[in-house]
Parts: sequence; structure tokens; C-alpha cells
Amino acid sequence: MRAAVLAGPGDVRVEQVPDPVLPGPSGVIITVARTAICGSDLHLYHSAPTGTGIQLGHEAIGTVVEAGPDVRTVRPGDRVLVSGFIGCGTCRPCLAGQPNVCGNGAGAALGTTLDLPGGQSEALAVPFADSFVLPIPDGMADEEAVALTDILPTGYLGAARADIRPGSTVAIVGLGPVGIMALQCARLFGPARILAIDMVPERLARAERLGAEPIDARQAPAAEQVRAATAGKGAESVIEAVGADASVLDAVSCAAPGGTVSIVGVNLTMTLPFPMGVVFLNSLTLRAVVAGIPGTWPALVPLVQSGRFTLAETFTHHMGLSRAPEAYQLFDSRGDGVLKVLLDPNG
Ligand SMILES: NC(=O)c1ccc[n+]([C@@H]2O[C@H](COP(=O)([O-])OP(=O)(O)OC[C@H]3O[C@@H](n4cnc5c(N)ncnc54)[C@H](O)[C@@H]3O)[C@@H](O)[C@H]2O)c1
Ligand SMILES: [Zn+2]
Ligand SMILES: [Zn+2]
Repeated sequence: MRAAVLAGPGDVRVEQVPDPVLPGPSGVIITVARTAICGSDLHLYHSAPTGTGIQLGHEAIGTVVEAGPDVRTVRPGDRVLVSGFIGCGTCRPCLAGQPNVCGNGAGAALGTTLDLPGGQSEALAVPFADSFVLPIPDGMADEEAVALTDILPTGYLGAARADIRPGSTVAIVGLGPVGIMALQCARLFGPARILAIDMVPERLARAERLGAEPIDARQAPAAEQVRAATAGKGAESVIEAVGADASVLDAVSCAAPGGTVSIVGVNLTMTLPFPMGVVFLNSLTLRAVVAGIPGTWPALVPLVQSGRFTLAETFTHHMGLSRAPEAYQLFDSRGDGVLKVLLDPNG
């Protein structure tokens, strides 16, 4: 089959790779119908930190073609979406939908290591399907289902862990696909204002259309602008959805005394010089999370079905899998109004 493979930093190729094999009696194989590129893939794309030869992708939906004898919740022929992050599938956190805190240390994103081939491919093997695969409800659009594999759960957790109270002010640092999901999920908790920070004009405009107040970080430091917009106070809740050192520091600086900073951007820095004095003197609460994706589905699936989110427009570019190298370049450049690229393995 064909798959998008990371050949080196900045070098994605579509190559012939072996077909997936059933990953044990609890696993399934799906033919991939749609798959998306994520900001997390860009971390790999920039520096290939986990090596080359990786079959990329952790956001995929498709049809089950083979199911192991122990699988109970899905059958061949079912249209399914896959959790972008999986674990051992048997421990208490995994059974509760939180493979990010897998008790057996087996938590991992699909398509990030050589051992766990990803979904930007024609077919995908998923272990422990009962824990990590969900039948797609009738009537749910492909884009909605793909959003549920990672970005919507991540945005939701960013918002749900930010202590947002009715009438309060939220700041969101970073308006990529994850920030845009966080913005829409923040609204579920009833804030009066959402300040949306980025430096890409189309992304700021999109946030404004979704009811937020855009803050262009190119014009002045984000924290300065957030303070100016809040009579010097800052935002009670801040969601960081970038993953850079600078954006973590910005998020801390935007927070009001007693506020909460909820981090979902992937940042693997081990020695970040940190303004501990600001955190301490302002009595801030800091949270960070790798998304426990299946655990969010009971809340998010009905919300998606009720039309609560604007999801289809998130996928600004639709391309065939054969154009994955170009799709990565485009998404990385943030040009042409791109927010998210949806790939079709048939193309
Ligand atoms: N926690 C999780 O489980 C999880 C899941 C999915 C994605 N992520 C992470 O979320 C982050 C965002 O993902 P994405 O797909 O939206 O990526 P993206 O790269 O498309 O978006 C990042 C956005 O941040 C903006 N930005 C950069 N520096 C900034 C700054 N200092 N201030 C304000 N904005 C700034 C960029 O212009 C861009 O619009 C990534 O780090 C990704 O790895 C985490
Ligand atoms: Zn992702
Ligand atoms: Zn586990």
C-alpha cells in the first residue's frame, strides 16, 4: 500500500510500504477514507526527533476490513474513527479513555514511531479496538469524524481544564486548528469574552468570525495587549495551543491573578527558563495535558451531532494522499489561508 513516510527533516514522501497486519486478537485493520495533517506532525516534520522512516499520521477515519476474534464493539464493514493516541488498552486509565496516562506506560500517538505506523496511508492497523476505535454515528460528516480523532478532544480538554467561569475572560494563545477548537469549546463554559492571539491574519479573522476578539501578536507583546484589553487585569483562563517556549511564557504572562493556564501545545523542552515568580506571586494554576481522546467522546459526539461546532470549514484544503509532500509544505508555511489539510488516500 501507499503511505506518507518521513524521510528526514522537511522531507515527506509517499512510498510503497508493507500492508498492515492484524495487531493481535483485539486489533482491527481499517482502510483509510480520510486522514489529516496535525500541528503535532509538524514537530516531527521539522526535526525528525524520533527517527526517519516513520509512517506518519494519527488522525484517520475509515472502514473496518478485518477484526480480531476478541473485538466486540466494531465489525468488518463498520465506518469508524480512530483515537490518535493509544495505550495498552487494558489498564484502568485506558479503559476509562485516558491512554495518555496509561498505567503500563504504553501511551503513544499513532504515526510517531517506527513501531506504530500511522494513518496517512491507504490502510491502518489499530490495536485494542474496543478502547480506541469508535463507530461513526449515522449522518456524521467525514470532517466531523476526523475532528474527533484528535483536534476537537484536545481543544476540549484545553478548555475544560482552564477553570472557565460564566462571565469570565479567556485568552487563547495560538489559533491553529487546535486553538480554533479550543475557542469553540471555551464557549461551552460561558465566558463573556474570548481574546484570540496569533500572528496569521486569516487565523485571526477566523477567530473573530467565531465570536472572539483578535489580538495580533506582531503588533505588540501579547500579554501587553491582553492587559490593555482587560483594564490591566489579564485573562482568568488562558489556553496555550502553540507548543513553543515563547508561547508558554506568553500564556503565563497573560493570566490574571488567581487564574489558570491550561497547556495543550506539545512542548518537550526539559529545561525551560521559567518565570516562577510570576506564577507564584499571582497564585496561578498551571495544567498541561496530552489528550485522552476516547474519554472526551461521550461529551463531544452529542455536541457535534447537535451542530454546536463549526468543523467542516476547518479543513480548508482537500488533497490526494499522493500530494502529501506538498500538503506538508503548505500546512507548515501557513500560506494560502490554510488551516487544516484533509487527505484522501484514493488520490
Ligand atoms: N496535547 C495534545 O494532545 C495535542 C494534540 C494535538 C495537537 N497538539 C499540539 O497543539 C499545538 C497546536 O497544533 P495545531 O495543529 O493547531 O498547530 P499549528 O502549527 O497549525 O498552529 C499553531 C499556531 O500558533 C501560532 N503561533 C506561533 N507562535 C505563537 C505565539 N508566540 N503566540 C501566538 N500564536 C503563535 C501560529 O501562527 C499558528 O497559527 C501543537 O503544538 C500540537 O503539537 C497537542
Ligand atoms: Zn493531531
Ligand atoms: Zn493502558
